[in-house]
Amino acid sequence: MRIYKAKDYNDMSRKAANIISSQITLKPNCVLGLATGSTPIGTYEHLVEWYKQGDLDFSEVTTVNLDEYKGLPRDNDQSYYYFMNEHLFSKVNIDKNKTFLPDGTEADSDVACKKYNEIIHATGGVDLQLLGLGHNGHIGFNEPSDTFEKETHCITLSERTIQANMRFFPSEKDVPRQAYTMGIQTILSAGKILILVSGEEKADIVKTAFFGPVTPQVPASILQFHKDVILVADEAALSQCSDII
Ligand code: F6R
Repeated sequence: MRIYKAKDYNDMSRKAANIISSQITLKPNCVLGLATGSTPIGTYEHLVEWYKQGDLDFSEVTTVNLDEYKGLPRDNDQSYYYFMNEHLFSKVNIDKNKTFLPDGTEADSDVACKKYNEIIHATGGVDLQLLGLGHNGHIGFNEPSDTFEKETHCITLSERTIQANMRFFPSEKDVPRQAYTMGIQTILSAGKILILVSGEEKADIVKTAFFGPVTPQVPASILQFHKDVILVADEAALSQCSDII
């Protein structure tokens, strides 16, 4: 794992956008695995800015997102489709037909997951997977568990994740309790993984996930086994690791 220490959130975002932009420049028809949440917002802002300056072309890029809330339609402003459209897709020249997320409106979980696995396989594989890190070590919505789930599955959100995501909803009861998420094996199949972490409140989980034992109780710990992972984290997020790195 390569670790890039960033000064702060903005520096982390710029470094991450540079890596994604190199990927697009080197392989214009690449497949990007994308994430939502607060962490990648600054990264998307930089990518949009560079696109507007004429330095980036998304026309041949395909994207597959990590996850989507079950039950939320695309036009719900809390859906991950809405988020991606708001922060990236509507602001760059990406072909919307090449942007994929699990279908949150599909009530049959088996159907939703099977369809999404087929979509991911049809892309030929993810070149670069962007990830954020949950406070409990989740990646995508792969929550702490006794086993690593391989492919897309329906997950019941942990209480910790519901609390963390509550900030985006009018109240706790509005947070969906279930989501569809890419599985761990799919995430690990990406050629390159870029994980971003910012803020002191993630300092403990950064240390546990990347320097502790590999266990499904800390899903991100499995990234220690991937051959090409870049962790871009700011000083606050790395503050518990100063004796190690
Ligand atoms: C989002 C996702 C989640 C988030 C994680 C961190 O698509 O899959 O794993 O990356 O919950 O969220 P933030 O960035 O809001 O702290």
